[in-house]
Parts: sequence; structure tokens; C-alpha cells
Amino acid sequence: MPIREQWRSRWGFVFAAAGSAVGLGNLWGFAYRASEGGGAAFLLLYILIVLVVCLPVLVAEMVLGRSTGSSSLVAPAKAAGSRWGVMGWLFVIAPLGIGSYYAVLMGWTLDTFFHSLFVGLPADKTEAAAFFGSISSGGSVLIGQIISLVLTAIVVVAGVRGGIERLTRWCMPILFILLLGLAFWASTLSGALEGYKALLSWDGSEFFKPSTVRNAFAQAFFSLSLGIGIMITYASYLGRQNKLPKEAIAVASLDTAVGLLAGLMIFPIMFSFGLNESISESTIGALFIALPAGLGTIGITGRIVAVIFFALAYIAAITSSISLLEVPVSSVMDRLGWNRTKSVIGVTFLLFLLGLPSAFDINFLDKTDKIVGQLLLILGGFLLSIFLGWVIPRKFDEDLSNSNSSLRVRRYLKFMLRWVSPPIIACGFIVSLIDLFQNWSS
Ligand code: PHE
Repeated sequence: MPIREQWRSRWGFVFAAAGSAVGLGNLWGFAYRASEGGGAAFLLLYILIVLVVCLPVLVAEMVLGRSTGSSSLVAPAKAAGSRWGVMGWLFVIAPLGIGSYYAVLMGWTLDTFFHSLFVGLPADKTEAAAFFGSISSGGSVLIGQIISLVLTAIVVVAGVRGGIERLTRWCMPILFILLLGLAFWASTLSGALEGYKALLSWDGSEFFKPSTVRNAFAQAFFSLSLGIGIMITYASYLGRQNKLPKEAIAVASLDTAVGLLAGLMIFPIMFSFGLNESISESTIGALFIALPAGLGTIGITGRIVAVIFFALAYIAAITSSISLLEVPVSSVMDRLGWNRTKSVIGVTFLLFLLGLPSAFDINFLDKTDKIVGQLLLILGGFLLSIFLGWVIPRKFDEDLSNSNSSLRVRRYLKFMLRWVSPPIIACGFIVSLIDLFQNWSS
């Protein structure tokens, strides 16, 4: 067995995990889910789910990775015996599922970036919709998808330290600064207040609406890259010195901050340019239609903002897509004993094939996102909390106490994993499932 790589520093892990979390989900996903309604109720639910439910699961997922030192495919069986081997498969299928269409979304982002840079922005909504139609169909999708997959593969081939850690250490600060700048700029727009109001409008009944609950759960899990094996894999390259509860708080805070900042930037733009309605019509393309159309009406400033925004989105996306590739790659390396390069080539090709239906059919992409990106992740989170809370609670405790987490923190986490997260996640899962099928059948 070759020796397992390790992160160079504590921050290497935190940046990589936060890099996986911060991605198109915070920009594209947040915009489309928030625009499906819910206002402040959606926001509040999302934040509550992150704090109460997701944080303990995030720690659990990290502990599973670190204590086994294995990839997500192998970790459950290694921790609790071969009966649990099936669970490992979930943590390979889910990242492959998301990875397949994530590259397509990255392709759209790249296209829009180049178009804003070299050609210009659409003059109005109709033109923007036509442009989005052209980038989301035909050969140009494939080019964007392939470039994105190749770039992702290049980083992952370079390894955990040489590729993933090196890239995320640079990208995360840049991304944060750019986003802060854009959110500040958006606050100066004439419709900023109206946008904030829409994002923050309170309607208590929304709190219990199934679609709001589903969107909040989906946003929390998807955005944190939780329940999918990424944190298992990344934490398997960790040493003892990291205090995982602290790292989990850092990752969740960074991710939530970026999600909120993105909302504070996107909503003012949509409202300043009267695009709010067009958003809910084509939710999945919201970002790619509304933003360019809105920015197109204010000349060169708008164009500069668009270029910065889509560059930023692409940076955010690549630090996520490398994590989506790393999970199956590390599983293949563990299970089949292939070397890194061979594994990366094999999995990248598989992702390309799996992504073809999404590349050619936006409805397929939408459905895959809802089934894999929403339901499977929530299911994964549920299984993880049961697994660490009930099946291997002693290992959980041992790992945390070996790395000097206090008794109080350990008790709190174990209590949450046993009694709080599972029932809440189960409710969220059932509500999401029913709401989704009702949506589809109506
Ligand atoms: N969290 C990423 C985002 O917000 C997407 C992602 C989901 C990445 C699951 C890896 C795993 O875009």
C-alpha cells in the first residue's frame, strides 16, 4: 500500500473543504432556490438546518474519514464491518451523479464569461434568453463541459498537496474579495433596497410550505457538500492535530457567508433591472439569463461586473469540481489499486459520458440535480448521523478525544447525532420526496 498523502497544513484542509462547499450552489443554487419563494423563511430555515442539523453531521463525516484513513467507498466497511459496505457505494454514486452535470454548469459559466469578455452582454431579456438557449444546447455545451473536466482533472492529477491544496489556498481568498466587492457595488444600485426586501420579506406561512422546506434542506446539504463522501475523503488525508468541530464551524461559516453575500449581490441586481419575474420562470437558468440581461442595460460597468462575476463563479466551481472528482478517484485508488493518473483519466471519462444526457437536455439536468443533488445528499446525511451516532459511537468519541476536543463538545455532538439530526433529517427527506413528486406529477 502506498503511504497516504496528507495536507501540508491545518489551513490546507479547511480551505479545501470550504472550497468544495463554496461553489455554484452558493451562486446559481442560492439564486434559483431563493427565487422559488420563501423569502426570509427560506433563509432562516436554511441557516437553522445548517446550525442544528448539518454541523454535527459535518463533524461526523470528517471523523469517519480521519479515523479510517480511507476513501468514502471503503470507510464505512472499515469502520463497522463489511455489512456496511453498501453505504460506501452511496458515497461514490452521489459524487459521480453531481459531477456529471456540474461540469455542464461549469461549461455554461465559462461560455457566459467569455461572451461577456469578448462579445458583450445581451441588450434585453429576450436576447439573454436566446443566448442562454444557445449555450445550453448544441456543441458549445460540450466544449465547455470538456474544458471544465480537463481543467479539473489536471488539478486532481497533481495530488492532494500539489493540486487541491495549492489551488484552493489561492482561490478562496480571491473569491471572497471579489464577492465582497460585487456585493458592495450591488448595494449602491437603485433597486438594492427592494432586492433586500424580497430576500428578507417575512411570511410565517412560508416556513411550513413543503417547497420551502425542500429548498432549504437541499440548499444546506448541497452547499455544504454534505452527505456525499467529500468530507470523508478530504478528512482521510488529515493528521491528529486538527480539531474537527472547529474545522467544521470554519467551513460552515465560510460557506454560509458566501451564500448570503451572493444573495445580497444577486437580488439587488435582479430588482434594480426589473428581472425578478423572469427568474422564477426559468429557475434553473436564472443566473445565466437574469444577470447578463440586467448588467447589459448599464453599459461598460455592467460588462466589467459580469466578467468579474462569472470569473468568480468559475473559480468557485472548480474548487468544488475537484472535490467531486477526488472522491471517486480516491475510491478507485483504494479499491482497485490504480495509480492517481490512471484513476483520474478513467473517472473523468466516465463523468463525461454520464454528463452527456444533462448536456443535451436541460430537463434531465434539472431532474438529476433534484434526485441526486437534493434527495441523495439528504439521505447520505441521515445515514451518516445514524452510523456515527448509533453504530460506531465509541470510535466517534475516541477520534475526537484523541484530538483534544473537550468532553462537553463531544457530548453535545453525540447527543445531536443520536437524537436530533436523524428525526429532523428524516422529516426533511420525506417532505422533500413528497413535494418533488407532487411537483412533477402536477
Ligand atoms: N457544494 C458545492 C456547491 O455549492 C457543490 C457540491 C455538492 C460539491 C456536493 C461537492 C459535493 O456548488
